[in-house]
Amino acid sequence: MVSRAPLPRLLTALNRRRMKLLLAIALVAYVASVWGNFVNMRSIQENGEQKMENKIEEVIAPLREKIRDLEKSFTQKYPPVKFLSEKDRKRILITGGAGFVGSHLTDKLMMDGHEVTVVDNFFTGRKRNVEHWIGHENFELINHDVVEPLYIEVDQIYHLASPASPPNYMYNPIKTLKTNTIGTLNMLGLAKRVGARLLLASTSEVYGDPEVHPQNEDYWGHVNPIGPRACYDEGKRVAETMCYAYMKQEGVEVRVARIFNTFGPRMHMNDGRVVSNFILQALQGEPLTVYGSGSQTRAFQYVSDLVNGLVALMNSNVSSPVNLGNPEEHTILEFAQMIKNLVGSGSEIQFLSEAQDDPQKRKPDIQKAKLLLGWEPVVPLEEGLNKAIHYFRKELEYQANNQYIPKPKPARIKKGRTRHN
Ligand SMILES: NC(=O)c1ccc[n+]([C@@H]2O[C@H](COP(=O)([O-])OP(=O)(O)OC[C@H]3O[C@@H](n4cnc5c(N)ncnc54)[C@H](O)[C@@H]3O)[C@@H](O)[C@H]2O)c1
Repeated sequence: MVSRAPLPRLLTALNRRRMKLLLAIALVAYVASVWGNFVNMRSIQENGEQKMENKIEEVIAPLREKIRDLEKSFTQKYPPVKFLSEKDRKRILITGGAGFVGSHLTDKLMMDGHEVTVVDNFFTGRKRNVEHWIGHENFELINHDVVEPLYIEVDQIYHLASPASPPNYMYNPIKTLKTNTIGTLNMLGLAKRVGARLLLASTSEVYGDPEVHPQNEDYWGHVNPIGPRACYDEGKRVAETMCYAYMKQEGVEVRVARIFNTFGPRMHMNDGRVVSNFILQALQGEPLTVYGSGSQTRAFQYVSDLVNGLVALMNSNVSSPVNLGNPEEHTILEFAQMIKNLVGSGSEIQFLSEAQDDPQKRKPDIQKAKLLLGWEPVVPLEEGLNKAIHYFRKELEYQANNQYIPKPKPARIKKGRTRHN
């Protein structure tokens, strides 16, 4: 047996311990260095991510701003609308609702809290007239020609679809006839099917060139059935006949408004009637053209008065025709002078030879409307004219900015002189 000396044994033991210690130190150093690297890597990575995020934010921030602006511009602000309970809220159809009168009627009925459907073929009407309602939950706009049947569920129908100014209704007399005859039959058919009440926008032109002055509803009229205006005058006369046939034979509830000359904002630029003609001439510094001596009289109502009258008639129990107009009569010359002064225009008044068939007087008798509807016009002429002047001034500016305004096409019939309608 080999026995070892005590010293070398001690040295060996010491070496072993040192080795172990060294190994332990090396291990700790290794772990510490790995941890350090790891921490370093993370902070580099975090820095990189932060930088990337900052860059992305720089690109996205302006886009986000743009989206916010777009959202703001898309959030349509509607005129205030009353709340009506289910039982009071009506579903109302307005044919020709994108036209001059129809768009003001749309405004009134929408603001009163009803559900309004406008049907229009945009012959003389414009989307611009009702664009402030597009998207509203109570409003619907349908591009439709009333000469074709329409199937919808409604409680009331205001049937206004028809060109109203002579250049427009004489442009295509056959279409004017179809609109007023077939179109009215279609709307009466709809009223019968769904049990709706129908109001026809008839006209003072059913009195023709009147031999009675002022005209009341009992007057049967004096219309030339084959003249250039017959498509409109006779079209409206037969539309009235159809209403009463449907009332008597089918029990349809009808209302007939005989509307006299009306003016106001959203009239056509080339409507061709005396008020818009004079305003545009005065605003553009052109001579105000008066046919004849200017002593012929006319009476004009402001559009908001007419709209109130239409709604009052619709909701009344008066089924016979009712005149709606302003009986305040003025000579053409007075109109020209008044408009010239209100515009502050230096235009001269130019007298041209008298127009053929120009009625000398036109004035409604509105006793029936006063008595049965409690309605009469309230807007003073000057106030209405100022609003119309403001509108036409803005339209001229709009045109000058080269923006697109669809113009009604001119009348095909060029012969014969313009009349003071
Ligand atoms: N403005 C007046 O002074 C006056 C006077 C008497 C009667 N009216 C009657 O009042 C109603 C409205 O007149 P306005 O001055 O607003 O005229 P307008 O020309 O401005 O409006 C008539 C609307 O009917 C639409 N229309 C025409 N034919 C159509 C068809 N076939 N289908 C669908 N839509 C059609 C047009 O595009 C237009 O939007 C008309 O029936 C008119 O005869 C008006």
